[in-house]
Amino acid sequence: MCGIVGVVGNTNATDILIQGLEKLEYRGYDSAGIFVLGGAENHLVKAVGRIAELSAKTAGVEGTTGIGHTRWATHGKPTEDNAHPHRSETERFVLVHNGVIENYLEIKEEYLAGHHFKGQTDTEIAVHLIGKFAEEDGLSVLEAFKKALHIIRGSYAFALVDSQDPEVIYVAKNKSPLLIGLGQDYNMVCSDAMAMIRETNQYMEIHDQELVIVKADSVEVQDYDGNSRERASYTAELDLSDIGKGTYPYYMLKEIDEQPTVMRKLIQAYTDESGQVVVDPAIIKAVQDADRIYILAAGTSYHAGFASKKMLEELTDTPVELGISSEWGYGMPLLSKKPLFIFISQSGETADSRQVLVKANEMGIPSLTVTNVPGSTLSREANHTMLLHAGPEIAVASTKAYTAQIAALAFLAKAVGEANGNAKAQAFDLVHELSIVAQSIESTLSEKETIEAKVRELLETTRNAFYIGRGQDYYVAMEASLKLKEISYIQCEGFAAGELKHGTIALIEEGTPVLALLSDPVLANHTRGNIQEVAARGAKVLTIAEENVAKDTDDIVLTTVHPYLSPISMVVPTQLVAYFATLHRGLDVDKPRNLAKSVTVE
Ligand code: M6R
Repeated sequence: MCGIVGVVGNTNATDILIQGLEKLEYRGYDSAGIFVLGGAENHLVKAVGRIAELSAKTAGVEGTTGIGHTRWATHGKPTEDNAHPHRSETERFVLVHNGVIENYLEIKEEYLAGHHFKGQTDTEIAVHLIGKFAEEDGLSVLEAFKKALHIIRGSYAFALVDSQDPEVIYVAKNKSPLLIGLGQDYNMVCSDAMAMIRETNQYMEIHDQELVIVKADSVEVQDYDGNSRERASYTAELDLSDIGKGTYPYYMLKEIDEQPTVMRKLIQAYTDESGQVVVDPAIIKAVQDADRIYILAAGTSYHAGFASKKMLEELTDTPVELGISSEWGYGMPLLSKKPLFIFISQSGETADSRQVLVKANEMGIPSLTVTNVPGSTLSREANHTMLLHAGPEIAVASTKAYTAQIAALAFLAKAVGEANGNAKAQAFDLVHELSIVAQSIESTLSEKETIEAKVRELLETTRNAFYIGRGQDYYVAMEASLKLKEISYIQCEGFAAGELKHGTIALIEEGTPVLALLSDPVLANHTRGNIQEVAARGAKVLTIAEENVAKDTDDIVLTTVHPYLSPISMVVPTQLVAYFATLHRGLDVDKPRNLAKSVTVE
């Protein structure tokens, strides 16, 4: 989704902005722009499309200070007029913005009569408002910005410059992520640490409703009434090599391949020297104190919640309910007396989940965030955090985060179960079982050529497809179908195999691809019955089976793993199916249309 980068006090401002925007590309965007000042003249450059197109327009653009933005359209089409940065009426003030201003039309009507707007964005209204307070009402830049912040409602991360003053960038945030990066004799602002990691690993957090005055040699944090706030910096653990593609053609393939390593990293992170599972005792107690766990998440993370439900219930003796964050944000169901909310989020920034967390905090409901990003908003605002240790996930299609989420929740379930004396938890040798999972994934990854050939035969020209499975395999089918549709644009549904005949089987016709998942010894035969039903109606079937239930005729056979962990190994061939189907269609695997990596608007 939208990204912000800014720098003050560095003669390479243009390069820093362009390189920072390139690092934000993975988040998804449709246009971009920069404003550079502090050189012989000021420059505003915008382009629709990729950063390469913006970069091609920056010859001769030089300065010491600048702000840049990648835009994912919300208000108004992806055009240069709507691309950020936006300027005030006199063009003196220049602003980039992530988020959504809820009352922008009211502001326009109440304060900005007679102003001329180039595009349709809420951001342009905000910068006109600041400009009005400074130029028409005579306030200082800081006072004008503060006054506007008191009026603006909604989610935002703002970076503002006064084109007459290259010494300072003003930033403010509410509900949208923004960080300060501390350089040597210069400073930066950014919505994502990744965009600054080339320059610095020293960061400073900004909290909601804080305003920061960023200069080359100082950073001053204030609340909106001008009171100073102390803020320490911290060192980020990101490594520049983690965010490179290396020799891979796409991040998605690299991230699929990293999964065995991620399993081993999780073992390291959640065991002690003697191999015992170790989870923060406060988190174990939070689960023990709860009479029901509510998992809130979106997309792939939601599917990881489903895949972990049975394991959590059986090992912790606590019922688990799933909620789609965007639904719960506006309507919480009747909750149990002692709920625990677990937020699963790769990015830790998903606005829908955050909305539920804000409500949970207001209601005093204890919360745990399971995330890949330390210091992310959901991590900071929940009572507890468990990290995924998966390393940065750049491809929009989430792969290693899904498998890491299930594995991290397995450590939680095992730790709580052991603390409770649950017999199944005691018998579950998680470290050993996860090592088998890692080996199983490795063996699937060594079959890429075979999988690619089968995918070409099955999916090269189809417009639609189905994944089917029962039990845990149904949950994997949901995730597998999301993966396929989001990057290959093949319309795909994940179905409980037995449910097809209650309506959806009407869609099966000659040649319809149906991919069946089989891992459960009890359920596999029933799913095979459903395979017969679709095959009899002309479906082309591809079967993915674990060895313990496999037949000679199955297409892809996986090493058998512990049933609790089967979603981890079963999903891997489906990730490869999505990857190859997309590749065969000549599409950009890492940057699917219309999608953003980190969904920071509602
Ligand atoms: O960062 P989160 O895990 O909270 O993101 C949730 C979804 O937006 C995300 O999983 C999305 O569905 C992915 N593109 C799926 O590959």
